[in-house]
Amino acid sequence: MGKWYSLIRRTEKKRFVSAVLLAAGSGKRFSDNTAKQFYEIAGESVLIRSAKLFEASEEISEIVVVTRETDVPGVRNLLRGAGITKAARVLAGGDTRQESAKIGFDAVNPDADFVAIHDAARCLCTPEMLEAVLESAFLYGAAAAACRNPDTIKRTNGTDLVTETLERENTWLVQTPQIFGADIYRAASYTCAKEHFSGTDDCSLCEHVGFKVRLVDCGPLNIKITYPRDVLLAEAILAARKAEKTEGKA
Ligand code: CTP
Ligand code: MG
Repeated sequence: MGKWYSLIRRTEKKRFVSAVLLAAGSGKRFSDNTAKQFYEIAGESVLIRSAKLFEASEEISEIVVVTRETDVPGVRNLLRGAGITKAARVLAGGDTRQESAKIGFDAVNPDADFVAIHDAARCLCTPEMLEAVLESAFLYGAAAAACRNPDTIKRTNGTDLVTETLERENTWLVQTPQIFGADIYRAASYTCAKEHFSGTDDCSLCEHVGFKVRLVDCGPLNIKITYPRDVLLAEAILAARKAEKTEGKA
């Protein structure tokens, strides 16, 4: 009985999933003087909104936050004040998103089974979206939130001259979270660093070394705060979600 129980226990062992929250950017497209990660939307900062998503998920064991060096003590306080208990480490990030992601990944628990990398600026991600990407990553090893592209995409030659029209059916707008088996991401990150490969997202590191990445359609509302206009959009999305919840209760 004891033997069988321990066998069952072992196969049921909870996966250790580390979230890496990227908040070390300077938000140049948003504003010259406000770091967008601290901007409050409907009464709550962009960073805390993102941290709460991972805090609330039963699958997430720890959160590593990467921010600008001068913001490290302030972010620690902010997280504590907001009741974020899973924030294991708050670290200074790097000059590029890729560097910040590497710093964050290198600081996760060495026994982590999976790592979920998320742009703090993408603060409207829902628990359902996170769940769907986690599920796909658990099944296939590498998965990212994304949205089917609704528009025709054209390539230009560095000016405004069209050189190619891409087939719309197979184009996606890629979002975060991007979730990977820790071994897969470690191998990809190591090889890309060695080969000086740079990519604008985490999936591209895995793609570069030949790992297959699955996309999970999370629709167009998992927006990233990039420009000031995105605040209006975020407020509208939050208001619609709130109304939907209230109607559901009525
Ligand atoms: N990021 C980071 N470290 C960097 C650059 C970006 O951790 N060196 C983070 C940002 O804080 C953001 C996410 O990566 O949460 C996505 O990047 P982006 O939207 O480009 O944010 P910023 O780089 O801050 O904005 P901008 O490009 O307009 O300056
Ligand atoms: Mg940027």
